Amino acid sequence: MDLFEYQARDMFEKHGVPVLAGIVADTPEEARAAAEKLGGVTVVKAQVKTGGRGKAGGVKVAKTPEDAEAAAEAILGLDIKGHVVKRVMVAAGADIKEEFYFSVLLDRANRSYLALCSYEGGMEIEQLAEERPEALARVEVDPGRGIDLDKAREIAVEAKFPTELVEKVAPVFVTLYDVYVKEDATLVEVNPLVLTGAGDIVALDGKVSLDENASFRQADHAALEDKDSTDPLEAKAKEHDLNYVKLDGEVGIIGNGAGLVMSTLDVVAYAGEAHGGVKPANFLDIGGGASAEVMAAGLDVILGDEQVKSVFVNVFGGITACDAVANGIVKALEILGDTATKPLVVRLDGNNVEEGRRILADANHPLVTIASSMDEGADKAAELAAK
Ligand SMILES: Nc1ncnc2c1ncn2[C@@H]1O[C@H](COP(=O)(O)OP(=O)(O)OP(=O)(O)O)[C@@H](O)[C@H]1O
Ligand SMILES: [Mg+2]
Repeated sequence: MDLFEYQARDMFEKHGVPVLAGIVADTPEEARAAAEKLGGVTVVKAQVKTGGRGKAGGVKVAKTPEDAEAAAEAILGLDIKGHVVKRVMVAAGADIKEEFYFSVLLDRANRSYLALCSYEGGMEIEQLAEERPEALARVEVDPGRGIDLDKAREIAVEAKFPTELVEKVAPVFVTLYDVYVKEDATLVEVNPLVLTGAGDIVALDGKVSLDENASFRQADHAALEDKDSTDPLEAKAKEHDLNYVKLDGEVGIIGNGAGLVMSTLDVVAYAGEAHGGVKPANFLDIGGGASAEVMAAGLDVILGDEQVKSVFVNVFGGITACDAVANGIVKALEILGDTATKPLVVRLDGNNVEEGRRILADANHPLVTIASSMDEGADKAAELAAK
């Protein structure tokens, strides 16, 4: 999960990283009030989870509260790389003398952590890495040792900081690493980290990605989730603990086991080519114990997707045998009643398949078609979706 800049700012502050005051605002009037409260020069900054805000007109300096109001007026509603700005942060203006770059991230390829750092900030880091790679230090960080003051000095020296600045930035790197570890982050990036006219080091912008696998021990991370922008179907699936990912096509997919669902997506996409190019509408793995409730919840989510024209249920009976799955489907259709309106193609195989198919045949539900193989089912579902 990526955080907004203002959330990263708050997190930095909590761990002792030097930051400037910042107040979020959802309207130009709130921005004006925030600037009045902060006093002096402020910077109004778009809060969107994408880079390059400055270039897109999403960062504006304001000399007065009226300026801040006008800046917020211009920035709110702006589309930055497909992200519409709904909120700004009014930040205290910094007297910038120099700009630097620092980040620490999970280096999956090397099974380690990596610190990236440059004395030459103010430039997009991707561009710097490409054009002047020698100006960007890449220092491996042993997860067992982390970044202590010595390691932080090593990073600063590698990044070509002049000696007198090494002692100033090193403690900040240590606290940024603290954020990285204590918050279970996979990325902590500061661009720019600045030296002010008064000689202080301050993090002016922050980007933090959190590891959702650690949410069990990070109780306060749930509150950081951006509920407005999560897909409503994905949110509903999450409530039911379903592994659901919305895709762009027309054929809803339900299967048990991630591998089977993945291959079902492939088979449906292939079959769809013969039916006007229809595609899978989602990934949904209902897991091992496909109870009627889970099946009903899964169907409910998929049928709620307006783009879905047909549904392909592809289940391999294992520990949960096919008869239990068939009963689950029949009961799920009962639970859903009139809300189930789209044709369902069901392919069952594996443990107790005969009994499973008999249960479906006996129920004789008008929406259900039984397929005897995965290919046949995929073809039928694609055909129904294309109608
Ligand atoms: N509080 C501030 N006071 C003074 N100048 C600022 C302040 N915040 C940002 N700036 C200036 O604006 C520039 C861009 O700001 P920032 O890094 O936050 O956005 P960005 O780099 O365009 O966005 P992103 O990091 O998402 O690509 C900074 O490099 C800095 O020069
Ligand atoms: Mg930046």
